Amino acid sequence: MSKPLVVGNWKMNGLRADSTARVKALVDGLRAQPAAGVDVAICPPFTQLALVGSLLEDAPVALGAQDCHKAERGAHTGDISPEMLTDAGAAYVILGHSERRRDHGEIDETVREKVVAAAKAGLTPIVCIGETEDQRQSGETESVLGWQIKGSLPDGFTGVVAYEPVWAIGTGLAATSEDIEATVGFIRAELVRQFNESGKTLRILYGGSVDAGNAGSILTIPNVGGALVGGASLKPDAFLSIIHAAP
Ligand code: G3H
Repeated sequence: MSKPLVVGNWKMNGLRADSTARVKALVDGLRAQPAAGVDVAICPPFTQLALVGSLLEDAPVALGAQDCHKAERGAHTGDISPEMLTDAGAAYVILGHSERRRDHGEIDETVREKVVAAAKAGLTPIVCIGETEDQRQSGETESVLGWQIKGSLPDGFTGVVAYEPVWAIGTGLAATSEDIEATVGFIRAELVRQFNESGKTLRILYGGSVDAGNAGSILTIPNVGGALVGGASLKPDAFLSIIHAAP
């Protein structure tokens, strides 16, 4: 099995000054207390990629982005291509986050096309799936996740899957360990059904109110291969605690 992966998603947060301070604190923290057994990545907004990338030189932290377009180049005003991300030093890209599905109407097919384009450019896609509170209450969690897996992940997928129950994002209410174990177990079974042998080793992250207090228990749940961290990744001390909580 690969090392655990802890990814910080800064979402729409980060100007030059606070980005610089946050990255420096993270890098200093990892120098003081290395986390060699954990893969770490941070995904700042597009405008901070170059700055953050330069601050991460020689640091054991990879750079990622929060979205990309499916096309290689061309007339797509305001969009960013996968190649632009690799050119900026990114190794990962988050795709299909529920906030993009909500704010930009992204559907599974859009996500799948972006995953294909990102992988072609050499990026590792982190594909987000997760049910809403209503879907959960109606007992639709597994069918929703099953459709998202089928629809968002292309044949030959080799990236990362992030299970993020929408109701747990930014609420301070992470799913319980029992719920995470059951749902991530279901996701693993679906991945094996769709991808056979390779589905057994794809990394599955959990995201949704992961913090310094709950990371230790979440990161040791069977089939959980890491965390996708939003709010707590903006606080270096909390993010470092999460990284060091990884088994
Ligand atoms: O991408 C990260 C997730 O949406 C989780 O965000 O840790 O603020 O709940 P959160």
